[in-house]
Amino acid sequence: SLPALSDLFGRFHNYLRISVTERCNLRCQYCMPEEGIELTENDKLMTTAEIIRLARIFVGQGVEKIRLTGGEPTVRKDILDLISGLNELRPLGLKKIAMTTNGISLRRKLPHLRKAGLDGLNISLDTRDPRKFELFTRRQGSRHVLQAISEAGKLGFDFVKVNVVVMRGMNDDEVPAFVEMTHDESIDVRFIEYMPFDGNQWGRKKLVGYRDMLTNLYRIYGDNIERLPLENNHTAKGYRIKGYRGQFGFITSMTDSFCSACNRVRVMADGNLKVCLFGNTEVGLLDLLRGGASNAEIVDTIIRTKSSLTHVDESGDAHMVDVSDKMPTPRSAIARG
Ligand code: GTP
Ligand code: 5AD
Ligand code: SF4
Repeated sequence: SLPALSDLFGRFHNYLRISVTERCNLRCQYCMPEEGIELTENDKLMTTAEIIRLARIFVGQGVEKIRLTGGEPTVRKDILDLISGLNELRPLGLKKIAMTTNGISLRRKLPHLRKAGLDGLNISLDTRDPRKFELFTRRQGSRHVLQAISEAGKLGFDFVKVNVVVMRGMNDDEVPAFVEMTHDESIDVRFIEYMPFDGNQWGRKKLVGYRDMLTNLYRIYGDNIERLPLENNHTAKGYRIKGYRGQFGFITSMTDSFCSACNRVRVMADGNLKVCLFGNTEVGLLDLLRGGASNAEIVDTIIRTKSSLTHVDESGDAHMVDVSDKMPTPRSAIARG
C-alpha cells in the first residue's frame, strides 16, 4: 500500500517537527511582541507522555527525523526526559533527533542533551554584536549563544547549524563575518530570508534575497566559493569556502520556495497537527489522545488531514502553496512550529 504519510503531490512526510512549548526566553522582533504571545492553558498542552505516544505513532508511519522546536524548547523543564523517550523509538525506525534553539541557556545543558540522545542542533543567532543582539531579541546574551555554538562543536553532535535571519540595514553587513565563522568551526551557517508573520512588521524593503547576499560574497571570495549538491528535501542551498571546515547556505523561503521538496509535518504544543507552515489548517489531536482513541484512529486522522485537507483551497482545488505571495498567516510564527 501507499506510504501512509504521502500526499497528493507524491511527497512523503518522514520529518516531524514538534513544538514542545509556546514559551520563550527571548522576544525576537520578527517573532513576537514584547509582552509575549497569548499562551495556551497548561492543561491544554501535550504532556511528555502524550508527545512520546504521538511520536511513536508517527515513527510507525515512517517518520525518521524528529525536530523539537518552540517557543524555546529548553525552557521545557522535562526536555531531557522527552529526548530520552524519543531516543527509545530508534528501534522502530527513528534515525535523527534534532532541536532548534536560541542557545541562550543552552551551554550547560549541552552534555546532558547529547547524552539523552540528541543528534543535532540548529542554533539561532542573528548578530554577533551584543548591542544589535538586544535590538533583535529585546534581551541580552549573544555571548552565551556564541559560547554554546563553539561548545556544541566539541561535543560530537552530528551537526550544528546556525540560523541567521537576515534583515536589511540590521545585520546584512554581518553576512561575511558569519561566513568567516565556518573557517575554524565545522558548523553550517544558514542565512534565512525574512518572512512575514502575523504582526511582525515585515516589509519587502527589509527582505534581502539570497542572490544579493551571494553576489556580495562572490565579490569577497570569488572562485573560492564552492556550490554543494542539493540535499534531498533541502530547505537550504549549500556552499563552502574552499579550505574552510564548515559550510554555509541560504534558506530561500521568499525568493525561491521549496514546497515541492517539503517533507515536514508539524505538531504544535497544543497537539494541533499542521501540515503546512503557510496553511491555516490545524487539526486537533489532543482530544483524540485524551479521549481514549486507539492508535489506529489517530493514524487515520493524520492520514485524512494530509490527504484531504492539505493544500486544498477555498474552491476545493488541491494545490501547492506558493509562499511568495502569502502575507501574514494567523498565529503561526515559524519559530513556534
Ligand atoms: P533542518 O533542515 O532539519 O536543519 O531544519 P530547518 O532548517 O527546516 O529547521 P529550523 O527550525 O532551523 O528552521 C530554519 C528556517 O527554515 C526557518 O526560519 C524557516 O525559514 C525555514 N523553514 C522551516 N520549515 C519550513 C517550512 O515548512 N516551510 C518553509 N517555507 N520554511 C521552513
Ligand atoms: N522569518 C524568517 N525566519 C524566522 N524565524 C523566526 N521568525 C522568522 C521570520 N519571520 C527563525 C528563527 C529560528 C527559526 C526556527 O526560525 O530565527 O532560527
Ligand atoms: Fe523566541 Fe525563537 Fe521567537 Fe526568538 S524567534 S522570540 S528565540 S521563539
